[in-house]
Parts: sequence; C-alpha cells; structure tokens
Amino acid sequence: MKNTIKILALAVVIISVVSCQKDSKPNYQYMPNMYEPLSYETYGEYAVFPGGQEAMLPAEGSIPRGWMPYDIENSNEGYKQAKDSLKNPIKYTKENEETGKALYDIYCAVCHGAKGDGKGILVKREKILGVPSYDDVGRAITEGSIYHVMYYGINSMGSYASQTSEHERWQIVQYVEKLKADLEGKAPRIDTEVAVVAPKTEEHHESTEEHSNAH
Ligand code: HEC
Repeated sequence: MKNTIKILALAVVIISVVSCQKDSKPNYQYMPNMYEPLSYETYGEYAVFPGGQEAMLPAEGSIPRGWMPYDIENSNEGYKQAKDSLKNPIKYTKENEETGKALYDIYCAVCHGAKGDGKGILVKREKILGVPSYDDVGRAITEGSIYHVMYYGINSMGSYASQTSEHERWQIVQYVEKLKADLEGKAPRIDTEVAVVAPKTEEHHESTEEHSNAH
C-alpha cells in the first residue's frame, strides 16, 4: 500500500513536469541569466524608448559616413555665391579628367553633346530646347556654378546629386571646364605634379615642403 502511494506520488510529479513542455513556445528556462542579456537587444521592444522600440531614428543633423553636406542653398543668391567663390577641391590630373569624361558621357552628353556645344542627341531630335554651349559668354560658367547646377539642377535640367558622389561631381566639373577651354581654343587646366628630379632653386624647396605637408 505504502509503495503504491509512493509510485502514484512520483507519477504525479513526473506528469506535472512533463506536461509543461509545449513545442509551440520557448520552454521554461532554469537559471536564464546566460540567455537574457542585461543590455537592450537590437530592435527589441522596451517601454523606456520613444515608441517602445530600441531602434531609433538618427539624431537630427546626423550624416552618413563619408558624406559631406553642401550648405549653399538652392536660390539665386546661392547660385551667385557658388559661382563666385566655390572652388574645385580635387587636383586637375589626367586621371580625374578621364573619369570625368566617362561620367560626363553617361550623364550629360545626351543633352550637352560630347563636345559641350549644346548639341546632344536629344537636342538634335528636338526633345529638349535651350541647352547652352559651355562657352556661352552670357552665362560665363565657373567651377562653382557647374557644381551648383549639377547639385540642384536648373530649370529643365535635373539634379545629379543622387546619381553621383561629391568626388564624381568635381571630376565632371574638371571635364566640363576642359570642354569649355576646348571650345574657346584655350589650353585646359592641368595641375602639374612636383617634378621627381627638380632643379636646385628656392622655389623648388617651397613646393616640396607644400607637397610633404599635404600628406
Ligand atoms: C535633359 C538634358 C540635360 C542633361 C542630361 C544635362 N543638362 Fe545641363 N542643361 C540643360 C539645360 C536645358 C540647361 C539650360 C538651363 C537654363 O538655364 O534654363 C542646362 C544648363 C547647364 C549649365 C549652365 C548653367 C548655368 O549656370 O547657366 C551647365 C554648367 C550644365 N548644364 C552642366 C551639366 C552637366 C555637368 C550635366 C551632367 C551631369 C548636365 N548639365 C546634364 C539640360 C541638360
């Protein structure tokens, strides 16, 4: 009799433990400290956060890594400011010119023409009107104004800010300036590198110092 009671009691204990097992839910964890971190979990839901969500919007004014804000505004004053004072930060090398040409042929030549004379294929087919030649005296474009119109667009020309990076836009600027110089019959700007073997002059001393400072 005593044994039967013991066996029954044991059966009740086993059944009650096993019956808690449910395949559809995480099971009871014994000493769960190793499983549940003290810190908040990425994308976890916690009441302490606004909206109850751990993943929050970036703070106002945050910018992606490697992206530089362009703080000249899209207005007539902004255009004038860019035209007068914005300078191309890249060196005018052959490599930059070539990359600029490749990008120009993709994005700009359809309207402006491979030579920058305003006679691109869309103009020839009369799909778009009023595309100027880069040597248009009335416009007198500058490195700053070219960058500005590429960033914001101008009238029927769209913005290229989302298709191109800042660096690429400046490479295109170099190439547009080259096309302009070609149209005007002038020599395009190329920044000469410091000579490998330079003559012993004061001037050279200064330029090597500049060069090493830049690194
Ligand atoms: C869809 C045709 C089209 C494409 C593509 C295009 N442009 Fe233009 N662009 C125009 C038109 C039209 C104007 C004249 C806008 C106006 O002043 O009314 C213009 C004007 C300009 C000007 C002179 C703006 C000024 O300051 O007066 C520059 C510089 C220029 N474009 C550069 C570019 C560059 C660089 C690209 C390529 C990244 C490009 N454009 C792509 C149509 C185009």
